[in-house]
Amino acid sequence: MTFRIAQISDTHLSETRPYFVDNFVRIGEALRAAKPDLVVNTGDMSLDGASDESDLAASRLLHDALGLPLRFLPGNHDLGDAQETASHGESPIDSGRRARYLKHFGLDWWCFDVPGWRVLGINALLLGSDLPAAAEQEAAAVQAMEGLGLRSLALFLHKPLFDQTADESKISNRFLTRGQRGRLAAMLGVAPALIVSGHIHQYRSSDADGSHHVWGPSTAFVLPERIQPIYGAKKIGYVEHTLRPDGTHDSHLVEVPGARTLNYDDLPKIY
Ligand SMILES: [Fe+2]
Ligand SMILES: [Fe+2]
Repeated sequence: MTFRIAQISDTHLSETRPYFVDNFVRIGEALRAAKPDLVVNTGDMSLDGASDESDLAASRLLHDALGLPLRFLPGNHDLGDAQETASHGESPIDSGRRARYLKHFGLDWWCFDVPGWRVLGINALLLGSDLPAAAEQEAAAVQAMEGLGLRSLALFLHKPLFDQTADESKISNRFLTRGQRGRLAAMLGVAPALIVSGHIHQYRSSDADGSHHVWGPSTAFVLPERIQPIYGAKKIGYVEHTLRPDGTHDSHLVEVPGARTLNYDDLPKIY
């Protein structure tokens, strides 16, 4: 029994600024045809849920309309950026923003087992935060790691751990910081076989530090080179992750005909 997870990410949905609903609906049709066992959104479900709760509500409604099993993880646009990196005009995570998120999308960390695998989802924006929930998440993750046994571990979170290596010391809001990576490593104790993230709006598949890192693309839009370099592929779509009982996996990009590669520069100012 393999378990198939369709990873969508960075859907950036909003009722008042519905620029990306069309792509979401088209990709949703492809998901319904593919019938994955689970759809995971790795964050930025909303356009600006961190400051406008109606974006959270609208995004949740559109997801529910898919009629598929769903799990969610928060992105910086859903509840604010990590305290350490929220210096780019963005709000930092706080208890109020997090509570609003939880109301619409449920707990921001989770864990479940499928044959051969343990799948752990965490709130990347809480790593290294002084909110009480950060310590609660760390305790929950340590507990979730007990009894891993011979299973492979798949970790899902909004931000990639790093660009090329875990030694990188540059602090930016693109990747986890070195301090956040340290917290994560202490929580897990082992290198995940598979690390799945969103946030960059580029698809990339690479191996580093004993893990296979897969960056899911946005279903919504890409950023121009004047804002963001090319790390992988600036494409729109989703990723299908097949987890096999023997602990191996396959992850590949699915491009959906009719979903348009919208560019930030061709849109009204969204953030
Ligand atoms: Fe995003
Ligand atoms: Fe993001």
